[in-house]
Amino acid sequence: MQDKARIPENGCSVDRVVGADRPRRRCRPGRAAEEAVGGTCASWPSEAPLPCASLSRQRAREGDLPLLTGHDVVVTGASSGIGRQIVIVLAEAGARVMAVARREAALAELARTVRPPAPPLILVAADVVRPDGISALREAMEAEAFQPDLLVNVAGTFGPIALVGDVEPESWVEAVETNLLSVFRMCAEIVPRMRSQGRGIILNATSAASLDIQAGNSAYGTSKAAVNHFTRQLALELESSGVVADVFHPGDVRTEMFEDIRAAAAVAGDAGAGYRDWVALMDETGGDPLDEAAELVLRVAMSPDPPNGRFLWIDGGITAPRATW
Ligand SMILES: NC(=O)c1ccc[n+]([C@@H]2O[C@H](COP(=O)([O-])OP(=O)(O)OC[C@H]3O[C@@H](n4cnc5c(N)ncnc54)[C@H](OP(=O)(O)O)[C@@H]3O)[C@@H](O)[C@H]2O)c1
Repeated sequence: MQDKARIPENGCSVDRVVGADRPRRRCRPGRAAEEAVGGTCASWPSEAPLPCASLSRQRAREGDLPLLTGHDVVVTGASSGIGRQIVIVLAEAGARVMAVARREAALAELARTVRPPAPPLILVAADVVRPDGISALREAMEAEAFQPDLLVNVAGTFGPIALVGDVEPESWVEAVETNLLSVFRMCAEIVPRMRSQGRGIILNATSAASLDIQAGNSAYGTSKAAVNHFTRQLALELESSGVVADVFHPGDVRTEMFEDIRAAAAVAGDAGAGYRDWVALMDETGGDPLDEAAELVLRVAMSPDPPNGRFLWIDGGITAPRATW
């Protein structure tokens, strides 16, 4: 992260962190990423490499590189899956993390998982679709003198798999509300704080599915396409403010959401065929590692010059990066 970045202060020059020692994993065979990004997997096409998160993380564990010490980070969707892992990685890297989700017990379990020297988590049990959830977050930020310089919006749901004429309307609306309104409400609360600080990074979880059309996927696909558009809009408004906003595809990962998709696709008839194939692929390959999205977030957080308005991809994922905008 820009001004507060501690990397140079701890004897690790930016060149060293950003430079060529970053391990470049080859894409798995048979995928199109090599065409898309010129021979190696990259976080996003045609950009300078991000810092090497995994090497730096290792050094942080060894105690000589407190990467994100002094940084305040908010992560939604913290109670399970990808968001939970992002919380663990950022806290291990020294950030003070506010972990937000509705399930209190799962947050408490997460707090027990993250151990010193990681700073204690600040837990906020809140529904980030609702104004009262945002009020609870605001109160927690004020009580903790929290100055967020990284916001990772991960909260999401898959919703129904059904053709538009067959779908239960309230479940469609709920999915779009969860995925889009949560991002909007969080940004509306946090952007003014970041602007007044003159620095900040916002990373919104999207999906490669936002770039495709597939029968039965109108709720999730539409909601994530809207997150993309909202984020581009926000990025434009933030230009030259010191604050940036991007979306990221976190990989194809076997989480609670994956189990929801498996269950929904199984009973969706023809509309579920595409997702039944995807579930089979995930079972066959094991899916992408949970850690990759967290590594991507950490790399962006460590970057002295984070991108703005971009669609970011994990390294080496099952779904290859492709040109977006
Ligand atoms: N898994 C994949 O393959 C994949 C692929 C592409 C994109 N993604 C995206 O990555 C993100 C995380 O997915 P995941 O697979 O980790 O899913 P997950 O395990 O089901 O986690 C979803 C998280 O969102 C939280 N959440 C949902 N509604 C919320 C609300 N109204 N307020 C606060 N928190 C809420 C849930 O917590 P509570 O229930 O405790 O509130 C949970 O922590 C999602 O945005 C998803 O669309 C996932």
